[in-house]
Amino acid sequence: MISLNNKHILLGVSGSIAAYKSAELVRQLKNAGASVRVVLTSGGAEFVTPLTFQALSGNPVSSELLDTAAEAAMSHIELARWADVILIAPASANFIARLAQGRADDLLSAICLATNATIAIAPAMNQQMWVNAATRENLQQLRQRDILQFGPGEGDQACGEVGPGRMLEANQLARLTADIFETGSLSGHTVLLTAGPTQESIDPVRYLSNRSSGKMGYAIAQAAIEAGAKVTLISGPTALAAPPRVERINVRSAQQMFDAVMQHVTNSDIFISTAAVADYRPVNIAGQKIKKTEDTLILELQRNPDILARVAALENAPFTVGFAAETESLEQHAREKLESKGVDMIIANLVGEDIAFERDENTLLILAADNKQQLATASKRVLGRQLTDIIAKQKNTPRSI
Ligand code: CTP
Repeated sequence: MISLNNKHILLGVSGSIAAYKSAELVRQLKNAGASVRVVLTSGGAEFVTPLTFQALSGNPVSSELLDTAAEAAMSHIELARWADVILIAPASANFIARLAQGRADDLLSAICLATNATIAIAPAMNQQMWVNAATRENLQQLRQRDILQFGPGEGDQACGEVGPGRMLEANQLARLTADIFETGSLSGHTVLLTAGPTQESIDPVRYLSNRSSGKMGYAIAQAAIEAGAKVTLISGPTALAAPPRVERINVRSAQQMFDAVMQHVTNSDIFISTAAVADYRPVNIAGQKIKKTEDTLILELQRNPDILARVAALENAPFTVGFAAETESLEQHAREKLESKGVDMIIANLVGEDIAFERDENTLLILAADNKQQLATASKRVLGRQLTDIIAKQKNTPRSI
């Protein structure tokens, strides 16, 4: 039984008779837990109607780049960022050539240019077209760009010939798509993560908190599980469900988060601190609801423990990764945190009213002692997987990303 729980699969369907198998593929991807959006090329739409894919996927089908109504609903850039994986099945010889050229003159090719997501193609074509030198060269280029190739298989073809070029069956493609998420890059590692906000009680009904949604931390937890790690997630209050197989420990305050981290850190070899921990808590928590008797009210606050710095200072500290949420001078502040907290890596992002917090996308700058790397704007799920791979590499080769 394959699992694609919570995954966003953008299925591109180009012009080939094998498009009829893609209808079944949508069903199988959905049964495995994925959300599926279908983008049809004009050739693809000649073989299977948008209505079929709309009914099976439960989502509107997009096909035109210059369709104002469709762009207003979900633009090609939003679709490119929405996807965890873009699976092009069938990928015709023509579409493969267009992808190799980096064309952007129809919706599907423009999305492929604009995405950070993994792209996989399931070729389908006549066996002579498959062995043609032009197709060979195009595929070679796509491999160099890390575009995955699923199949093709061999056998009877719709044109009456026999040979290579048959698109793989829906169940094979669904299995290969699920395998993309199981990288194994963290197998054997134990990851401890913090995520979400903390809440610092003022009285029995009020607290101090922040706008962290926990999405980034939960996305990394999910990616780390898929990469083969054992994952413990210490989470402040969020509305999110724990990813399957992740052990979640719920906490409210920074002090509770600190205690839970210290309890679990000795068994972990990677610590990732994504939580937006409150730096201060009220000195006194009122036993009863505070009444509005005065015109002004002064809350006295005291510092909370810096969980990240305390973990990094442990004698047998795990590989320690912190986040830096900044509203200005991103790189400078992040570098200061890298040094002052003594961590192995800092992942920096700008935050503000409409940036990062509560949103599904983020833009990240990664800093290590002698290195920096920018990750382009992408969904937090895509970034979670990129970060997991970078952390796995960095842990094995300290001091370079
Ligand atoms: N952090 C922590 N414990 C705290 C405060 C922060 O573990 N009490 C961690 C966060 O999880 C993050 C990193 O430290 O990984 C940086 O958090 P950030 O809020 O950006 O910075 P602060 O250290 O709080 O510094 P400042 O608020 O002055 O920017």
